[in-house]
Amino acid sequence: MSNITFSMIKPDAVEAGNSGAILKMIEEAGFKIQAMKKLWLTRERAGQFYEVHKERPFYGDLCEYMSSGPIIAFVAEKDNAVADFRELIGATNPQEAAEGTIRKLFAKDISANAIHGSDSDENAAIEAGFFFSRLERF
Ligand code: RTP
Ligand code: MG
Repeated sequence: MSNITFSMIKPDAVEAGNSGAILKMIEEAGFKIQAMKKLWLTRERAGQFYEVHKERPFYGDLCEYMSSGPIIAFVAEKDNAVADFRELIGATNPQEAAEGTIRKLFAKDISANAIHGSDSDENAAIEAGFFFSRLERF
């Protein structure tokens, strides 16, 4: 079991000014931010990130949406990070997300759902490597 997960605060939540409140919930749940940056994905880069979904009917809309405004990408560390983070963010569709979860509180709908969380240790490593080369000493 690895202890990191990768996340993005999605364009809807950044635009709504909810990044601070979301990061506060993540830290209060015991996650330590290892690396973080704000960036604006190109359509092409969003397509690469979500390549696993390229056969799904929502792929085009997802790539358009994820490149529609700035995001905040970060790596978070905690024991059992992947599973605990997905519990904290809640179900993909905010109408099905549990009370008190980030998506229940901040997501607009199933597409603009405020935040991403890796779905496995393997994908957490791949996704973190997509945005960050290493934890920088500066
Ligand atoms: P994520 O990868 O963003 O953490 O979300 P997830 O695991 O809960 O959901 P996933 O199945 O991986 O889908 C990735 C993202 O695609 C959008 N989506 N739209 N319109 C739809 O039916 C639909 N289904 C998924 C969402 O933005 C979802 O987070
Ligand atoms: Mg996913």
